[in-house]
Amino acid sequence: VSDGGPDRLWGGRFRGAVDPEIDRFTASFGFDRRLARCDLVGSLAHARMLYERGVLERTEARRVLEGLAGLLARLEAGELAVDGAYEDVHTWIEMQLVAAIGDAGRRLHTARSRNDQTSVALRLYVRESLEELDRGLLELAGGFCRRAAEHRETFLPGYTHLQRGQPTSLAHHLLAHAWTLLADHRRLVRVWELAGVSPLGAGALAGTPHPIDPERTAALLGFAGAFPNSMAAVADRDYVLEAAFACALLMLHLSRFASEIVLWTSSEFGFALLEDSVAKGSSIMPQKRNPEPAEILRGKTARVVGDLTALMVLLKGLPLTYNSDLQEDKEAVFDALDTATAAVRAGAVLLEGVGFRPERMRAALERGHLTATFLADHLVRRGVPFRDAHAQTGAAVRAADERGVQLWELDAAELRRTCPEAETSVLAELRPEDVVRAHRSLGGPAPERVAEQLESIGAELDAARGWLAGRRAPPVHRAFAAGTLLDERLDV
Ligand code: ARG
Repeated sequence: VSDGGPDRLWGGRFRGAVDPEIDRFTASFGFDRRLARCDLVGSLAHARMLYERGVLERTEARRVLEGLAGLLARLEAGELAVDGAYEDVHTWIEMQLVAAIGDAGRRLHTARSRNDQTSVALRLYVRESLEELDRGLLELAGGFCRRAAEHRETFLPGYTHLQRGQPTSLAHHLLAHAWTLLADHRRLVRVWELAGVSPLGAGALAGTPHPIDPERTAALLGFAGAFPNSMAAVADRDYVLEAAFACALLMLHLSRFASEIVLWTSSEFGFALLEDSVAKGSSIMPQKRNPEPAEILRGKTARVVGDLTALMVLLKGLPLTYNSDLQEDKEAVFDALDTATAAVRAGAVLLEGVGFRPERMRAALERGHLTATFLADHLVRRGVPFRDAHAQTGAAVRAADERGVQLWELDAAELRRTCPEAETSVLAELRPEDVVRAHRSLGGPAPERVAEQLESIGAELDAARGWLAGRRAPPVHRAFAAGTLLDERLDV
């Protein structure tokens, strides 16, 4: 009986060979070889479940488990090259197994299909990659907090419409980025959980007549449970799309920080200088000092958004259940995860290399009447309706502009003329740093509010690091490492 030759898992019903051009075009081994370790772990869980349930005869099941464990050990020791002319990584694994243990290896595929197998391997891979990404993300978030703590009393304009708006502190500004990253961390955790549903046992699409135990397989993999519907199990790629979305949104956030670095290091702003370790030069203009890491961060955001877009288009309109189109899910999600992981690491280095220039920030507060809102708020406290206070303060701003002075430099007569309800003592309260100190509302820039934020985000980040530290290899992988894979009882 033909099984398609030495490098195929199928072929009995075929007479001719696949055209080599088509073979190359349809093969995924070139990129899904990355899944080799995860696919072996998935296979171990499947084989152990078959062993426990007596689906495979015990001696043969033990040989399969030993064979898979031997492959995993060699792979982890770097003694097993994942290459050759195979259709995909699943083919490679089965061929390696048969080469190692002989015909018993031909029983591994009992009660599974590549459709459930590929998705379980990808789920394991996505989980590991999200953990790695989270490690870099939390490092970067911690960096924002450290830099913020250095700059509680560094004041600068806060912007809306890229126009100077109201005074704030650099600590307040940097913490805004830290909180955003914390939201990204929470998103990664949710996607990590979403990926923890096992499709193994769904088979091609309709399950199997064998007495399998998918919940046990799921437990061996450290997943929260198994699929509720075998068709949904093999058709589902939501975890891939959501992982890509989490990466894309994280990149969008990083790109906003990156743009600020580009702006702030321009001569026009002059709020920051980059250390040599994070700046680059021009091949022609000797004076240049370009913020290239920040620009590349922004640029890489585009490709991750592209990965997410490709995945959405890939899934659109696909009839149930598995379709070979889904093979294209891998490179997109690999790229999104790789790029985001590299970006958070580079972002952390970039942030350390930013030299802030408090004196330039301070100088930017001196022009533009950034404390006008405070004068309006003063009038409100004196009983003036906000809309009227807004109009009167506007008149005061115009008077200051006409005289070429700042709002706090207006004389008392001019203030009384434009804002009749104002107390003249308010003029002394309109200095930017005083206004920052007066903005004590929740989440605001007053130094004591920022101190509270630093404390609360510190606690949140500790909890996040605790979550990450609590991640463990799948139980079946730990049993492999401990040599208990063939124990009669394997508690997970
Ligand atoms: N290489 C395939 C993929 O990445 C594995 C599943 C193949 N299944 C199939 N019936 N051809 O999706």
